[in-house]
Amino acid sequence: MTDVARSAKLTLDGKDYTLPVLTPSAGPEVLDIRKLYAEADVFTFDPGFTSTAACESAITFIDGDLGELLHRGYPIEQLAAESTHLELCYLLLYGELPNAAQLADFTARVTKHTMVHEQMHNFFRGFRRDAHPMATMVGVVGAMSAFYHDSLDINDPWQREVASIRMIAKLPTIAAMAYKYSVGQPFVYPKNSLSFAGNFLNMCFSVPAEDYVVNPVLEKAMDRIMMLHADHEQNASTSTVRLAGSSGANPFACIAAGIACLWGPAHGGANQACLEMLREIGTVDRIPEYIAKAKDKTSGFRLMGFGHRVYKNFDPRATVMKESADEVLGLLGIENNPTLQVAKELERIALQDDYFISKKLYPNVDFYSGIILDAMGFPTSMFTPIFAISRTVGWISQWKEMIAESNQKIGRPRQLYVGSPKRDYVNIRNR
Ligand code: ACO
Repeated sequence: MTDVARSAKLTLDGKDYTLPVLTPSAGPEVLDIRKLYAEADVFTFDPGFTSTAACESAITFIDGDLGELLHRGYPIEQLAAESTHLELCYLLLYGELPNAAQLADFTARVTKHTMVHEQMHNFFRGFRRDAHPMATMVGVVGAMSAFYHDSLDINDPWQREVASIRMIAKLPTIAAMAYKYSVGQPFVYPKNSLSFAGNFLNMCFSVPAEDYVVNPVLEKAMDRIMMLHADHEQNASTSTVRLAGSSGANPFACIAAGIACLWGPAHGGANQACLEMLREIGTVDRIPEYIAKAKDKTSGFRLMGFGHRVYKNFDPRATVMKESADEVLGLLGIENNPTLQVAKELERIALQDDYFISKKLYPNVDFYSGIILDAMGFPTSMFTPIFAISRTVGWISQWKEMIAESNQKIGRPRQLYVGSPKRDYVNIRNR
């Protein structure tokens, strides 16, 4: 990794410090500053980690300028067109595409773990009916550590594996239960005869009183949504999972931390916020008003579903998602959906606007996902939980990669202190 022939020189107070250059397999070179504090007694300052690589990873690569997303080297467009979510899970977790026997074995292992401990049903009932499903998921996933004691030892590779399979398998069940609880319907048990995506739709939309048949178009669209959200290298929630895991916390606690971070509107919560914004705009004639508001810094308003920290050309996931939206709405016969009309027109206008062009703001994955989920019958509050169940495999793959590292350290950033210098305590009588 280190290219000894290349290094950077930092001069501070007349003294030179050598910073080795690390060469990645793709992407920009990386200056190694690990010894800088010990040798030069200085920290580096990078709020938001805009220029800082916090780990080595071999899972996902993004080229933000080219609009390229690769999982273990494979482009997301090819995976979305030809693979399935479970096959992608295998690829992310183990590094290679499975052969038929490996995929069948992996599918069987995940499928056999989809039920949750029966006592967890009682745990759900402690939440208020109107709780946001993300709030319920943070609590219930964290509580899994109280139910699955035999997969908490992070130093045992077998237990790490079991915890991983359990989370990939049970998160859809938990999200569906959170949804059912919020609408006052009975929980639906998983059905092993269905596909991963089909089972999730069945757990959300079937009721004991009548038969429910999973629509294959929606099943495929759901599987694709899961794939498009499966991993995205060191984003905020994944970094949260890694940071939580770096202390040796159990895997269920780490994933609960990731879910909590994902909920924010600048991250996974954007899909809910985006559809709500499109509905608020309502008709295409109101778009200029919202474009003007987004450009006005004093409004505090941003076009949700636009912009990305890494993509500065286009988000390849959004391109696939847009095609999927057209396909799903066409097949459901609702291509004149007013929200889709607003979305398309908003995208068209924004992409011609100097403000958005100069700041390289393009629609991200969340811009179109909500339209598909809405057409499927999900309330907006379920959009981010669906993101969470899809991203679970990414969080776990990154967590496992970190734990397996021989030189893994607790994550502990430093700070630029701007508070008061040392001073003496003043007794309350003298203040
Ligand atoms: N609407 C209007 N202006 C925007 C938007 C937007 N959606 N996004 C960024 N900008 C502007 C900022 O005001 C800033 O302007 P300035 O340079 O004049 O101050 C500039 O573009 C850069 O924005 P930053 O916030 O510095 O960029 P950052 O990389 O930190 O943020 C983020 C990226 C959080 C995604 C941002 O674009 C945003 O808030 N978008 C809306 C929320 C959203 O869709 N999030 C989903 C992200 S994808 C995902 O998590 C799956």
